[in-house]
Amino acid sequence: MKCVICPQPGSFALTECREPQPAEGETVVNIRRIGVCGTDMHAYRGNQPFFEYPRVLGHELSGFREDTGEPVAIIPYRHCGECVPCRAGRTNCCQRLSVLGVHEDGGMCERVAVPESRLLTAPDLGLDALATVECLAIGAHAVRRADISGELPWGLVIGAGPIGVGVLQCARIAGARVIAMDVAPGRLAFCRDVLAVDAVVDARENPLEQICELTGGAMPSYVFEATGNLSSMHAAFDYPGHGGTLVFVSIVKGRVAFDDPEFHARELSVLSSRNATRADFEHVIASIRAGKIEVDRFITHRAPIDAVPETFDSWLEPGTGVMKAMIEC
Ligand SMILES: NC(=O)c1ccc[n+]([C@@H]2O[C@H](COP(=O)([O-])OP(=O)(O)OC[C@H]3O[C@@H](n4cnc5c(N)ncnc54)[C@H](O)[C@@H]3O)[C@@H](O)[C@H]2O)c1
Ligand SMILES: [Zn+2]
Ligand SMILES: [Zn+2]
Repeated sequence: MKCVICPQPGSFALTECREPQPAEGETVVNIRRIGVCGTDMHAYRGNQPFFEYPRVLGHELSGFREDTGEPVAIIPYRHCGECVPCRAGRTNCCQRLSVLGVHEDGGMCERVAVPESRLLTAPDLGLDALATVECLAIGAHAVRRADISGELPWGLVIGAGPIGVGVLQCARIAGARVIAMDVAPGRLAFCRDVLAVDAVVDARENPLEQICELTGGAMPSYVFEATGNLSSMHAAFDYPGHGGTLVFVSIVKGRVAFDDPEFHARELSVLSSRNATRADFEHVIASIRAGKIEVDRFITHRAPIDAVPETFDSWLEPGTGVMKAMIEC
């Protein structure tokens, strides 16, 4: 079958690879859509330290079950089910987690074998929407970690890439008034025009002052950091109000440090958020179905799988206005 492989950083090759061999409890899925994500871009650029090559990328997947023909989304995380977090239901941070397209070969190919338990069926959603669920579930999980409550609390999302866009929409569903902050005018325009967020803040123009004014001096109760930028992660400690919660969705190399007195005076809760659980996937599916999450305008670029080797570079250019690129198979 056809397959796109990343033999080493900086290149893709269209090749033939072996048909999947489904193990006990596994089903073959005919892949139809592969969402492209920051992780794929890092792997391609070679700045994802734990990546091994050659690797078949692709973890934002939808397609048809070979046995029943039903459209499905795939949960790409393989958890052990036995470690302490798994037994507590926190399968997203399993001690032995393996992610399809990251730690093992993924879905940039015609067929994959996946455990039955990692399939989600939602025939009314369509293949495009099903392939966006994983990316949006990252946002759903971050919002669930924050446990939003109170009367119309302010939520600030720093970084309005595909991940931040998921956080923004899920935070609004959870009852927050949402502020999108970014340095890229195109990303801010997307949040304003497509998502109709409550406010947008250009991070290059005195953001602290702008946010203070927007929130009437209280500052946001919930702050989500999703830039992938270490200095922005440091700056994020300045934004939550007293009793506030700061959730790091970003993943960076390096140490995050903060000053104790303000952290203490405001009694901040600081959390990380990793991947998502099945409940987050189901929440996203229900929210798309209810028209509360945007899919059509979220997908900005498309290419057939054969064109990946010559097209992928263009998706790394911010100038192309790419939000979510979708590979069709
Ligand atoms: N928690 C998880 O499990 C998980 C899963 C996938 C991705 N991630 C991480 O989430 C982060 C975001 O991913 P993405 O795909 O949306 O990335 P992206 O690069 O597409 O988006 C990041 C956005 O942040 C903006 N930005 C950069 N520096 C900024 C600053 N100083 N202030 C304000 N905005 C700034 C950029 O303009 C961009 O729009 C990455 O670190 C990624 O590794 C986490
Ligand atoms: Zn992804
Ligand atoms: Zn486990």
